[in-house]
Amino acid sequence: MRLLIIGFGNLGRGLVESLAEKKSFLYRRFGLKPRVVGVVDDSGAATNNKGLDWRLLVKKAYQKAKVSAFPNYKRISAVEAIESVECEIVFELTPTNIQTGEPGLTHIKKAMKAGRHVITSNKGPLVVAFRELEHLAKKQGVEFRYSASVGGAIPVIELARKLLAGNEVLEIQGVLNGTTNYILSRMAEEGAPFDQVLREAQELGIAEKDPTLDIEGIDTAAKLVILSNAILGRDVKFKDVRRTGIARITPQAIKLAKETGNTIKLVGVATRQTVEVSPKLVPLGHPLAVGGTLNAVNFKLDLAREISITGFGAGPRETSSSLLGDLIDVCRTIA
Ligand SMILES: NC(=O)c1ccc[n+]([C@@H]2O[C@H](COP(=O)([O-])OP(=O)(O)OC[C@H]3O[C@@H](n4cnc5c(N)ncnc54)[C@H](OP(=O)(O)O)[C@@H]3O)[C@@H](O)[C@H]2O)c1
Repeated sequence: MRLLIIGFGNLGRGLVESLAEKKSFLYRRFGLKPRVVGVVDDSGAATNNKGLDWRLLVKKAYQKAKVSAFPNYKRISAVEAIESVECEIVFELTPTNIQTGEPGLTHIKKAMKAGRHVITSNKGPLVVAFRELEHLAKKQGVEFRYSASVGGAIPVIELARKLLAGNEVLEIQGVLNGTTNYILSRMAEEGAPFDQVLREAQELGIAEKDPTLDIEGIDTAAKLVILSNAILGRDVKFKDVRRTGIARITPQAIKLAKETGNTIKLVGVATRQTVEVSPKLVPLGHPLAVGGTLNAVNFKLDLAREISITGFGAGPRETSSSLLGDLIDVCRTIA
């Protein structure tokens, strides 16, 4: 199985490390022999038809090196790599842009049109063109997976679509953003004000320098669009999401919540009629009342009633669990 990895940042490197670590496990358990025939970032591509040397890949990943640090790297674009490198599966792991979906949208379309199966963690193309990409994959007869795009390590989409397939999903509720959950959890634990906790989260690298996407609920809304389309079969656009962020949550509000046996979480809720992100009172002990940077999703279902799942919503090693899961699933499907 020949893999082309577009994006050699946190996830691209994490994927390479997990693949190398699990080489013999993947062969023993599934008969899979993945070979990375190319890694690409903004600086260019390192390619080898027979597969790049695993030790070199792991070394460069460990050093957090750019692709330009590989011997014999070529100054070609991702599109050129997709068109010229022979492979079965393209991993699209470039930064998310929910306005245009680019550069991931172009990469995914090019890969599908070239007959490659696609696995992505990139929310942008899914938020901008979910139905178009599903249709294109079908038309081209290729597999398309995006488990890592929502919930990091948590198999939210596959859980609903496969294991809960006999149910009608009535509602999806999710704590889908680790940064805001960390901020709200610390505010609840310490009674500290929002600005102070945000500053500390930025110092720890948990929050971005520009935290707008997280605290305004934009990241959660993007994930909710994907869940609505993938699980509820809707055709929701980003503008359809009603959204309120957490910047106005005060320590007093959190204290009051605590006194009534609740906590405050930024919750995304999707049904067949509505999609909304807002801070909500969540009873302490409820499956969504998770602390730290954890994520949680609760499904309301016609048969099973309620099913919840919790886990790490980000991190290169954690998220490689979903990328590997998708890889194994694609290989099983096409076998
Ligand atoms: N990190 C997580 O835990 C996590 C979890 C779930 C989903 N995601 C999503 O997964 C994607 C990747 O995340 P990440 O944390 O790995 O991001 P990242 O560290 O910023 O890495 C992005 C990579 O994409 C490359 N890139 C940017 N523009 C490119 C282009 N036009 N052509 C080829 N390569 C290009 C970058 O190269 P340069 O460095 O040369 O610019 C970099 O190697 C994002 O969409 C993110 O939202 C991340």
